[in-house]
Amino acid sequence: MGCVDLLNVNKSIRSSLDLWHRFMKKYHGAYIKNVHEIACLREADRLVANFLDLVGDTVRVGLKTREINEMALDFCNDNHVKPAFLGYGGYPYAVCTSINEVVVHGFPSEVELKDGDIISVDFGVEYQGFVGDAARTYPVGEVSPEAMHLMRVTEESLYVGIEQARHGHDVYDIGRAIQAYVNAKGLSVVRKYVGHGVGRKMHEKPEVPNFSCQGTGLILHTGMVIAIEPMVTLGTDNVDVLDDGWTAVTLDGKWAAHFEHSVAITPNGPQILSISDRGLNRHTIA
Ligand code: MF3
Ligand code: CO
Repeated sequence: MGCVDLLNVNKSIRSSLDLWHRFMKKYHGAYIKNVHEIACLREADRLVANFLDLVGDTVRVGLKTREINEMALDFCNDNHVKPAFLGYGGYPYAVCTSINEVVVHGFPSEVELKDGDIISVDFGVEYQGFVGDAARTYPVGEVSPEAMHLMRVTEESLYVGIEQARHGHDVYDIGRAIQAYVNAKGLSVVRKYVGHGVGRKMHEKPEVPNFSCQGTGLILHTGMVIAIEPMVTLGTDNVDVLDDGWTAVTLDGKWAAHFEHSVAITPNGPQILSISDRGLNRHTIA
């Protein structure tokens, strides 16, 4: 692919790439990617999904979240990619590990996973200047039926949102569908954080709310790539950010789940890029 040829470009070509990026085709501020750029994003996202598979194989009672961060750093070394989160906006780790009432951006630490916990793992890599971004929530040991319900509804709502990611649709169609689905199951959608366009930068236009918004948003166009990432709770949708400036917890302490895919808008409809070598497994749903 064209992007693989770019693998060996020297620094001066790299800086002209940066310059060229400023002139990349945009539509209302959102980059329209060509097939080569989408191929690079697909490769970045394939690696992210492979890592999330690996986490699924590894999660067990007694695992420290710090160990997941070490796995992420090793994975990036082994695959010659950069961890996209490390240093992003000052974020100090390669991965976010969010347990139970932590919604997103939990710091890896010496805390050990306990039987019945749920843990959301969010990971991103940069491959050839393109960012892959995806997340999943995993059960630890035997979890309650309520926690299982939370994970299932969140993952299902992601696919309900993806279904709306089509050329000509309003980006708000995605959140409207997600929120209707989640609320019908008796759960709440977090409003403080949203999905996003993704490309050479992790966060590009448009914002992709996971909830209903007034008015109209950006019209989706073939060639856009967006990360859709519903965060769903068993109670309130209100979150609080801890003193570390990152860790987002539910105000009422009820548990939250988070699933994210990066998705390309194509003439044939939505194409999920964050698919591992094992294929598009749905992890908590049939
Ligand atoms: N998936 C998250 C997002 O899209 C990951 C960002 S974590 C950060 O915003 F630490 F890198 F900011
Ligand atoms: Co994201």
